[in-house]
Amino acid sequence: MSEQAVWIVDFGSQYTQLITKKIREVGHSSVIITVENAREKMEQGTLPQALILSGGPQSVFVDQGDYSFLFADPKLPILGICFGMQLIGQYYSGKVVRGTMGEYGPAKIKLTSQMSIPGLPANIQVWMSHSDHLLHAPENFSVVMESLNGLIAAIKSDDLPIMGLQFHPEVEHSDHGKEILAYFLEEVANLKKDWSRKAMLEDALAEVGQVGEEVVLCAFSGGVDSLVAATLAARILKDRLYCFFVNNGLLRPQDLDHIEALIKETNLNIEVIDASQTFLTKLAGVDDPEKKRKIIGNLFIEVFEQKVHQFEQERNIHFSHLLQGTLYPDVIESISPHGKGGKSATIKSHHNVGGLPERMKLKLLEPLRFLFKDEVRSLGRELGLRHSWVYRHPFPGPGIGIRVLGRVTPEYVAYVQQSDQILFEELHHFNLYDSVWQALTVMLPVKTVGVKGDARAYEEVICVRIVGSVDGMTADWSDLPKLFLKKVSNRITNEVKGITRVVYDITSKPPGTIEWE
Ligand code: XMP
Repeated sequence: MSEQAVWIVDFGSQYTQLITKKIREVGHSSVIITVENAREKMEQGTLPQALILSGGPQSVFVDQGDYSFLFADPKLPILGICFGMQLIGQYYSGKVVRGTMGEYGPAKIKLTSQMSIPGLPANIQVWMSHSDHLLHAPENFSVVMESLNGLIAAIKSDDLPIMGLQFHPEVEHSDHGKEILAYFLEEVANLKKDWSRKAMLEDALAEVGQVGEEVVLCAFSGGVDSLVAATLAARILKDRLYCFFVNNGLLRPQDLDHIEALIKETNLNIEVIDASQTFLTKLAGVDDPEKKRKIIGNLFIEVFEQKVHQFEQERNIHFSHLLQGTLYPDVIESISPHGKGGKSATIKSHHNVGGLPERMKLKLLEPLRFLFKDEVRSLGRELGLRHSWVYRHPFPGPGIGIRVLGRVTPEYVAYVQQSDQILFEELHHFNLYDSVWQALTVMLPVKTVGVKGDARAYEEVICVRIVGSVDGMTADWSDLPKLFLKKVSNRITNEVKGITRVVYDITSKPPGTIEWE
């Protein structure tokens, strides 16, 4: 993405990522930037196409920072949202007052006679979340939208390309938010559209092209991100890309089938390393979740590194880069919530391969690092990947190792593999797979009494967990049809020997996490 994209200056709004997504959805490239990073770049003369000042938790009465650099070039288009509008108001000497009551949630606003946006009715519903507000618009600014309770909802400069919105056009609850953002970008800032699926693909390919003639290694999981990254990179690198897949013995039948399908149906160079026995042996007797994660993570690196060295020697090649499917939320997670986190965002290495690049002295290649998950899926489709591949549910690196609670034994792993397979088959049967974020089975470390045939049974318990989510950060348990749950439960107790009881997890996140360990 070019440095000249629209910059979303992050003042710590909970909606900053959404602004970026909405701006892209209306066809303009946009990146999130901290205040300090924006200050540094602008003072060195790098300017974006336009600035969007996000909302934030602070008040202009508390945050007395000097943000005049944002307004130094009067030709630079600026849209302020919520706190961002109050900064504009304050800089241009309007009057911001401390809120006593504020407006939170849906509010009706109307366009004044000073404003007309094609397709917008006179009254619209928007999402407000503020207590301070602008009492008077600055000189040479017009009030272009008003709440029905008389507060200023939007202002626009009469002679500069500057606009402010008290409400949040980026959230779904705001009607016509995209039209309002597009109005700013195209009518006020006079920008041409520059973001599309095709442009996204070209940008990502250009990134891979910088590798030149070198040979690239990918720690391949078969998940959406590594698959899209590898498919994309292979377009440029051809057989100079090697995808190493580690079978840690903690995979589900569907994962092995998936890898097999990818080996058969794509042109990727996929090398499978079967280390199942090594992992299961190292995990024997360990019941602490954190210890299990550490063992699995460290062993992954060890096995991977060993295989890579052997491969380099045998083939007489040298890997220069590690390809990773890092996404934009991982990159911006490291920006401080108040937008003052540091000079630049440090990129968080993927938790499953953390440590690899430093140890192996590999340069990172992360062509998806500006993209959100839905954009990666869309890119995957553009690259010709199957729908079921790009809409696979996430699966954690430590796999079944953290889904058998307590000690991991081959027998318990098999219980989870079999019950998970049943869950997977029935989700497809009932056409529910695509409607949920993740579905899993967990083996609980308790035995319970039951009856099987005419005999008393004292056997293990499987918990089924199915959740809906947008990004895995929060999640709701899925309220699925009784018929489906009944079928899953019947099949698990009938078909998986050793299991007499199935329970359904009805905990949302927070407080529960998606995984149990
Ligand atoms: P939690 O359990 O924290 O999980 O609510 C949120 C999402 O992250 C996945 N997860 C992991 N993914 N390595 C991964 O690649 C891990 O160690 C790991 N732990 C949790 C989890 O499956 C869910 O999608």
